[in-house]
Amino acid sequence: MPVDILVGTQWGDEGKGKLIDVLTRDTDMVVRFQGGNNAGHTVEIGSEKYVLHLVPSGIFRPGIPCIIGNGLVVDPISLMEEMQDLVKRGIDISAIELSDKCHLIFQSHKEADTMKEAAAEEGKKIGTTKRGIGPAYADKAYRTGIRGIELKNLAVLKELFCEQTEKYNKMFCEAGIEALDIDTEWARVQEAAEYLAPFVKDTVVSVNKAIKAGKNVLCEGAQGMLLDIDHGTYPFVTSSNTTTGGACTGAGIAPKHVSKVWGVMKAYTTRVGEGPFPTELLNEFGESLRKAGNEFGATTGRPRRCGWFDAVASNYSCMVNGVDNLAITKLDVLDNLTELCICTAYEVDGETVTDMPTDAETLNKVKPIYETMPGWQSSTAEVKSWADLPENARNYLDRIAELVEANIAIVSVGPKRAQTFMA
Ligand code: GDP
Ligand code: IMO
Ligand code: MG
Repeated sequence: MPVDILVGTQWGDEGKGKLIDVLTRDTDMVVRFQGGNNAGHTVEIGSEKYVLHLVPSGIFRPGIPCIIGNGLVVDPISLMEEMQDLVKRGIDISAIELSDKCHLIFQSHKEADTMKEAAAEEGKKIGTTKRGIGPAYADKAYRTGIRGIELKNLAVLKELFCEQTEKYNKMFCEAGIEALDIDTEWARVQEAAEYLAPFVKDTVVSVNKAIKAGKNVLCEGAQGMLLDIDHGTYPFVTSSNTTTGGACTGAGIAPKHVSKVWGVMKAYTTRVGEGPFPTELLNEFGESLRKAGNEFGATTGRPRRCGWFDAVASNYSCMVNGVDNLAITKLDVLDNLTELCICTAYEVDGETVTDMPTDAETLNKVKPIYETMPGWQSSTAEVKSWADLPENARNYLDRIAELVEANIAIVSVGPKRAQTFMA
């Protein structure tokens, strides 16, 4: 069976972009299946660093079709700029296909996102990326969305766009916010539509033809399991299914074609935005972890919150995603520590639990129960094999694998392609 799915198993930014780039060496097609330009996927090749938001991370392997699937919400202006930037840097983008069924994000969605966040009282803000993701998915669910196919028909697109923007303008006026100038906004959208129209296809057909021809298809998840709208720390989540089920609906792939699930997992935990984070380190040590891991958002530049590895949340994540193979990233960030902690259970109202609580309120008050392990205090950045890892690093990884009940298949010890080896 030719389809592999790669997902983030924590709160995003696990290193999915790097892993997709590495795995695309043995892949014939890469497919993004959900989210939008809230994602920031970093790929470092030689001295070049790229941050992708909508373009699949397989784009650096020439000739590999890179599909932006039906499950995404796509800001056409942002996508055009991302593609133009890649072209400027000498990257061939001709293999990109944009789904005719994806939903489009416009300025009004971004304004509505910002407005909702600004109006929310403390404790209720989500800390979104303000990219209009929630409002665009809401329009999709309301059946008032505008889809990729309209990029090919400017007259229809203009009519739908004006109607939708007027609806939002009414809402903005009621809220005392300046309305959008529809002519100005349309001019920007028209330029993007003309640029993108040749890339718009029925990508479900492209993907299924590839599957039928026995090609290897790799699905690229965005965000992470704990931000999934159903399974994450609701309401502090994104608006899509970031888990493996989302790949089937968001790319149009029948479950029977899926052979393997890759879970990307940081050797510790980070989160950007609001919401519960049981193992967060709100102290100097958390700061030092942020510095060592360069934990600043690839999309918004916001500092990421940092904490110890949480085996309760990660075990739950591997279960829901059906992870076969783990890729553990950023092991090198822990190189200098004398001792490491792993959260193996939570204490809730005096009771010990190992199942992930559902509600954010409970998660906010759980006390992590830690076990400690000795550090390895030597650099792993140049390590090329499992056998060459320091013994304490192997023990740490073995313990993680045992706790999350999945196999470690890849270890990443730096941002570069070469800093990756099979376990
Ligand atoms: P994504 O959203 O899951 O693709 O991850 P991001 O790109 O947002 O964040 C991961 C960051 O860690 C990027 O800056 C990567 O270049 C970097 N990175 C990936 N793997 C490793 C690793 O093994 N070690 C270190 N030190 N950095 C890594
Ligand atoms: P990648 O693909 C980390 C977070 C936001 C916020 C919540 C909702 O790079 O891992 P949204 O804008 O989606 O409505 O915001 O989700 N978030 C991410 N956090 N990595 C991401 O993507 C994220 N995409 C969204 O910070 O807490
Ligand atoms: Mg990211």
